[in-house]
Amino acid sequence: MKSDKKPDVAVIGLGYIGLPTAAIVARSGCRVHGVDVSPHVVETINRGEIHIEEVDLDGLVQGVVSRGLLTASLEVPEADVFVIAVPTPFDKDHAPDISYVLAAGRSVAKVLKVGDIVILESTSPVGTTEALRDMIAEMRPDLKCPGLTSEIPDISVAYCPERVLPGKILEELTNNDRSIGGITPRCARKALAFYKLFVRGTCITTDSRSAEMTKLVENAYRDVNIAFANELSIISDKLGLDVWEVIRLANRHPRVNILSPGPGVGGHCIAVDPWFIVHSAPEESPLIRTARGVNDCKIHHVIARADELVKANPQAKVACLGLAFKANIDDFRESPARLVAATLARRFGSRISVVEPYAAELPREFEGTGAQLIDVDTALEQCDLLIVLVDHDVFRSVPLAERAGKVVYDTRGIWMDQPKVAEAVVPGLRLAS
Ligand SMILES: NC(=O)c1ccc[n+]([C@@H]2O[C@H](COP(=O)([O-])OP(=O)(O)OC[C@H]3O[C@@H](n4cnc5c(N)ncnc54)[C@H](O)[C@@H]3O)[C@@H](O)[C@H]2O)c1
Repeated sequence: MKSDKKPDVAVIGLGYIGLPTAAIVARSGCRVHGVDVSPHVVETINRGEIHIEEVDLDGLVQGVVSRGLLTASLEVPEADVFVIAVPTPFDKDHAPDISYVLAAGRSVAKVLKVGDIVILESTSPVGTTEALRDMIAEMRPDLKCPGLTSEIPDISVAYCPERVLPGKILEELTNNDRSIGGITPRCARKALAFYKLFVRGTCITTDSRSAEMTKLVENAYRDVNIAFANELSIISDKLGLDVWEVIRLANRHPRVNILSPGPGVGGHCIAVDPWFIVHSAPEESPLIRTARGVNDCKIHHVIARADELVKANPQAKVACLGLAFKANIDDFRESPARLVAATLARRFGSRISVVEPYAAELPREFEGTGAQLIDVDTALEQCDLLIVLVDHDVFRSVPLAERAGKVVYDTRGIWMDQPKVAEAVVPGLRLAS
């Protein structure tokens, strides 16, 4: 990458990570070519529109597309820097699937030239960046690849994970610190020069394997700590305690900071990435594996509690509040709230309504159940039993006066002022008088 000229950048995979990254790099003045296998995604972006929900992304994409700085296509063009941000799911045995990364890598390898930089941003099991490099070396024997030659390599290959919060992606993409792991220190320096173009946070260079593990460790840390809170909530239900009160008091200890329980852990990061560690070191990761199990169990605990409550109130109309996997986003992937609501809809049919301000319609699994999507005001007017599954701001802001007289099961602890009665009858449930 020459220092006097901004690089041409190709971003492969234009989803929740790739599109905001492409737009921010374009805003820094680089010409960016976005690449996706989905014609719908490519057409939408070329119209200056977006196919995902993210705060302020629409205006940014519209601006950089109209200035000719961001274009999208199905094919990978020549560029100076290639950023890969494609999915890394796991299979039914929780083994990581890096086939999307390798497919993206194959399309990049075809157009690589001397001096280019390839950066993997997808969350990946340890060793994936080296596997990507090996594949490039095999496809392009004409290029000297880093770590495989004693001479100065022709290309650089690095790993730089993303740690953004959905809903704050644009802000965090710019301001968060980044770990940049090179296959060699030279690769890390080359990638660092690229990130310095648009990242204001501190960029710390390391090797690719450490950077890969760092990303996995961050999410495993969250998962283990949430599992502790979720286990406490299950224990508290059994003992007839209010877990929110217990946590609130315990957190007065200067060195204790227990996280909040919820209906389980969802999304495509915290519920997925710990498995990448477990898969690579199964004997050595009992705590991380158990935490995954605890968080999955919490979903079934919430279903059982909600089921009990719906049956105990046979005349009540029920509103499940939220489907997203976390607050204030439109992402329903691997969402415990969605699983709880869909299970209740299958069991209780049209007695169940769902409030999800971020959804235009209910997901497919609700078809034929009789459940309806309603707004929060309708739920407050018509439903007697409210099951809080997501802590969206719009739910959090409902005042006590509007919830008075309702039976409430608050799995997120957003309505701490809800009067509690009859806990001995249905332990752990927040019941309104
Ligand atoms: N979403 C997040 O909050 C987040 C945060 C940190 C890390 N990550 C990681 O970033 C990676 C991408 O996640 P995402 O949420 O952006 O996924 P996404 O599903 O929103 O987007 C991925 C895009 O890649 C495209 N794609 C798939 N294969 C392709 C190929 N061979 N060539 C070109 N395009 C291809 C898909 O069509 C899709 O548009 C994953 O590894 C994820 O774990 C995501």
